[in-house]
Amino acid sequence: MLMSRWITPGITILTCSVAVMSFAVLTSCSVDVDDENGFVVESGNTETPSTSDVGFGHGRDVLRLHSGLYDVAYVRFRIDELSIGRQDRIQVWMKTDICIGCKMVAVANLTIKTKEKKMVATIDTAWATRIMVTTGDVHYPAKNNTYCELYYHFGQYGEYNLTVPPMTRNNTNGTICDLETLKSPTYANTSVFVFYGSVFLMFFVAAFWVHCIKRCNNKGLPSNHNGNVQSNVSLEDQTPLTDPVGNKPTKTSLRLRSVDAFRGLAITNLVLGTSGDGHFWYLSHARWYGITVADFMFPWFVFIMGTSIHLSFNILLSKGQSYLSIFKKIIFRSISLFIMGVCIQPHNDLRTLRIPGVLQRFGITYFIVASSYLLSRRLQARRIERTGKCYMMFRDVTDYLELPLAFCFLTVHLCLTFLLPVPGCPLGYQGPGGPLVGENGELTNCTGGASGYIDRMFFTEAHIINIDTCSAVYRTIVKSDPEGILGSFTSIALCVFGLQAGKILHLFTTVRGRCLRLIIWGLVLISCSLILCKASMADGWIPLNKNLWSVSFIALTGGTAFIIQALFHILIDVTHFWNGAPLFYAGMNSILLYIGSEIMHPYLPFSWVPFVGNHTEYIILAAWSGFLWLAIAYLCYRKKIFLKL
Ligand SMILES: *[C@@H]1O[C@H](CO)[C@@H](O)[C@H](O)[C@H]1NC(C)=O
Ligand SMILES: *[C@@H]1O[C@H](CO)[C@@H](O)[C@H](O)[C@H]1NC(C)=O
Ligand SMILES: *[C@@H]1O[C@H](CO)[C@@H](O)[C@H](O)[C@H]1NC(C)=O
Ligand SMILES: *[C@@H]1O[C@H](CO)[C@@H](O)[C@H](O)[C@H]1NC(C)=O
Repeated sequence: MLMSRWITPGITILTCSVAVMSFAVLTSCSVDVDDENGFVVESGNTETPSTSDVGFGHGRDVLRLHSGLYDVAYVRFRIDELSIGRQDRIQVWMKTDICIGCKMVAVANLTIKTKEKKMVATIDTAWATRIMVTTGDVHYPAKNNTYCELYYHFGQYGEYNLTVPPMTRNNTNGTICDLETLKSPTYANTSVFVFYGSVFLMFFVAAFWVHCIKRCNNKGLPSNHNGNVQSNVSLEDQTPLTDPVGNKPTKTSLRLRSVDAFRGLAITNLVLGTSGDGHFWYLSHARWYGITVADFMFPWFVFIMGTSIHLSFNILLSKGQSYLSIFKKIIFRSISLFIMGVCIQPHNDLRTLRIPGVLQRFGITYFIVASSYLLSRRLQARRIERTGKCYMMFRDVTDYLELPLAFCFLTVHLCLTFLLPVPGCPLGYQGPGGPLVGENGELTNCTGGASGYIDRMFFTEAHIINIDTCSAVYRTIVKSDPEGILGSFTSIALCVFGLQAGKILHLFTTVRGRCLRLIIWGLVLISCSLILCKASMADGWIPLNKNLWSVSFIALTGGTAFIIQALFHILIDVTHFWNGAPLFYAGMNSILLYIGSEIMHPYLPFSWVPFVGNHTEYIILAAWSGFLWLAIAYLCYRKKIFLKL
């Protein structure tokens, strides 16, 4: 018995450390410093490039999308007297693909006499880049002033010679610049595959192991001893939680492991995100449009909060707690979440304190969804019970106030987004704004459209933050908070979806009934989202947008959450194939992990200043901090320490 208690975490921790170490050895941690082709690669990242470095400087890509020596290629511009006159100057313009709808940006002026080193541009390789070389005196590239242009997706650490051909005055189609690859790029994604590959492998090995041990134990022992730490809550082999007629819970102490494990998945990835996530563009947040892996975690968390509301309130109500005392709990919890959120910021200047935020959004969402749920339970308690067949099929939808409420919030969100006039901006604008978008910078002050405008009016610019992922690309000037007011409306709807999942898991007695409903909800929401965004980055009616929490964004994240919840439910609660470790431990202490990682991430041992600053080092850093927090979560679980608000 004692052995088997330790075996799951033991194996997990062991395989985790072995994986991390072998991973560190496998992908050695160095940037090639290559002088063969005359490219001088300086290591170490300069946080603020000196003015002489701006433009073609090393250590940061030309468009200043990110600092650090990852995702960069080196491109040397070659011009000679044949192409331009001895005295002439050329201008180099660039635009990255991720800057959607942006103008070209002038990045350098070159002449034949420009120093060799200054001819080498450090170019970002996460996305394709458009390069144009024009005469020196133009305000914007056009057909008649362009020597050549090139649209190319450079590869990480590749080295290229880009030769400017002579200007052909009567060439109307534009010339393609000559590009020669001197050193082939390295494949950038190895470390991601190695990392996630080993994580998944580890999970499966551990799950199989535990599965085998459980079977062996079961053979020798009476069937009610299955050697697990937890008393297994199974919806199958125990009396149903509700009697088949009404909604009155007949059994207390329900804590679905799958819900905790799912929460653990979200929180672990949030922790990984806090520590940099390897600085891969698809693991870090989306720049403005679109969605990346990191963008799913926070919405999933809101979703699971909804699921837990249903499950925990049922426990409280069945313990005979009064509605008033539960309402007091709701108020206390919302306010403490809000205050926590305001207080864990790394600065204390009341003049520029950020008011909205992640925990603040949790607080507001929780307050509204939980109190409306409580109200509908209160109203339900007075109603006579119904037993019609049709009613029984749909009783998770018909009996409650929250779904109409979510609908109202979504409608208000849509109305404000599309109908609120923002001074100087087109009606219904949902783009990033900034000087690069639009013909003459007329969208400069439109960042975030209505959502940004409301936040700037309500909180004033001093009390919200700039979204740095977006402002680096679009060079935005005005702020638009990623956790703004309008986004809370959709967040409430998302939480209600989660609540719906909780009701489904609780009210229906057959596995098929539960999983089918979860999957149908998931597929419907995902389809809605794909229709709304026309399955594209920025061309849809409502593009996916993490910073605005657009309707398509919450539909997609909510839909995937339903599917994952169904999957986890089958794997964990029904078949007991996996007991949810180690995610389960993290899920039991999610607030502790979130607050802890927010506060501690700049400190040792949770992170360090990168030595090399490449993807491999960043992903080791993230894996290390994820591992530490999982270990902390496990220890807290063993010692029964839970941070509850
Ligand atoms: C290039 O020269 C023009 C005119 O002197 C100047 O306005 C522009 O800022 C320069 N561009 C860069 C990237 O230095
Ligand atoms: C690349 O450009 C540099 C500088 O102009 C030149 O010395 C070198 O020979 C070029 N390499 C190739 C392969 O053309
Ligand atoms: C430009 O056009 C003229 C006549 O249209 C032609 O003779 C000449 O070869 C062209 N020049 C180049 C460089 O293509
Ligand atoms: C944006 O706002 C700034 C400062 O309020 C103002 O100077 C500028 O003219 C505005 N730009 C546009 C395009 O409205």
